Amino acid sequence: MISLSPDDVVKMLKVLRDMEPSYAKGEILGSMTVDPPQYLVEAFKTFINTNLNDLKLFRAAYELEVECIKWLSSLMHGDGYGLLTYGGSESNLTALYVLREFTGGDVVLAPKTAHMSIRKSCKVLKMNLVEVGVKDDYIPNIDELCDLIYRYDGRLTCVVMTAGTTDLGVIEPTDLLVSKCRDVKYAIHVDAAYGGLIAPFTAELDPSIPIFDFRLSNVYSITVDLHKIIAPVPCSALLLRNKELEELITFEAPYMPSGVNRSLLGTRSGGIAAAAWAAIKSLGIEGLKNLALDLVSRAKYLSRSLTDLGIEVLIEPKLPIVTFRVSNKDRVMKQLWDLKMYVYPTSLPNSLRIVVGPHITYEVIDRFVDVMADLIKK
Ligand SMILES: Cc1ncc(COP(=O)(O)O)c(C=O)c1O
Repeated sequence: MISLSPDDVVKMLKVLRDMEPSYAKGEILGSMTVDPPQYLVEAFKTFINTNLNDLKLFRAAYELEVECIKWLSSLMHGDGYGLLTYGGSESNLTALYVLREFTGGDVVLAPKTAHMSIRKSCKVLKMNLVEVGVKDDYIPNIDELCDLIYRYDGRLTCVVMTAGTTDLGVIEPTDLLVSKCRDVKYAIHVDAAYGGLIAPFTAELDPSIPIFDFRLSNVYSITVDLHKIIAPVPCSALLLRNKELEELITFEAPYMPSGVNRSLLGTRSGGIAAAAWAAIKSLGIEGLKNLALDLVSRAKYLSRSLTDLGIEVLIEPKLPIVTFRVSNKDRVMKQLWDLKMYVYPTSLPNSLRIVVGPHITYEVIDRFVDVMADLIKK
């Protein structure tokens, strides 16, 4: 095999990457990933060769992680416990592990709308997942969930509620569950991987957005992804209610200078802490709020434009996800992909999803709506 020079391999990779769909050209319409600003990539690179699980050697990286967790936790009205992870799936898996150790339970209750990582985590952890249906308005059946909480009392690991469902961006009513189901003790894990950095800001203007954070005493853990709104992949956080839960994810590691390992992983790049810290410090509350409100406004504009064409949008967006009905999902998706408009399917019948990330400008939206108008005419 011929070996290539470092310059050549990088050139080849750039050519390969240019053959992939582009954020800058507004082609990536359905993915939850974003094109991070260059300074966050720089931040990541600066700490890429440090290890968050070597916290004595790479003290600064660890301190960045602690600072990020404190900041994100305060946004969720928590006390500063948790850890950064490589993604929503790892955060969810870690939450279910921690709560299983804490409660000793073997049953997880969740609406059918839970992300597939919940199902996967239950399989990995050998726990029993009991699912609850959703009603016509795509909101989980809270009465049924409450009945099941009583039925499985003593065996429950947790109930999973989602703040920003994958298909529709529904913020499920965790507050309603807590107020209806009071006479029994149970823990809730909130998967706010998508909505966690958006809903706290939109809720200030829209009182109909349910509360899902640590203000609710049943909420023990919350997943929040930074890489779904601003940061480079991978970058997520699992926030925990207290120190006791955090200790459950701290393992003895006699071969490491610190003697401990935090998280389900071994080596964890400090790049995730540096990128998260840089995003938080540079945007601050105001910057994140402006971004969140802007994305939701764009999603509402897209939703209105599709509705004006006579296309059914499944729910009025509260988060920047627009899911719409088409007569033939596979055919329309192929037509759009042929035009480099990469929308995503959903698990709902005949519907497609657009996630309005920072790269989905009004211009991109107008172009997409024009194409949909043409497809309808044809
Ligand atoms: C609600 C929700 N939770 C978790 C995840 C998993 O996140 P990741 O792909 O970062 O593991 C997703 C991904 O789409 C999601 O929508």
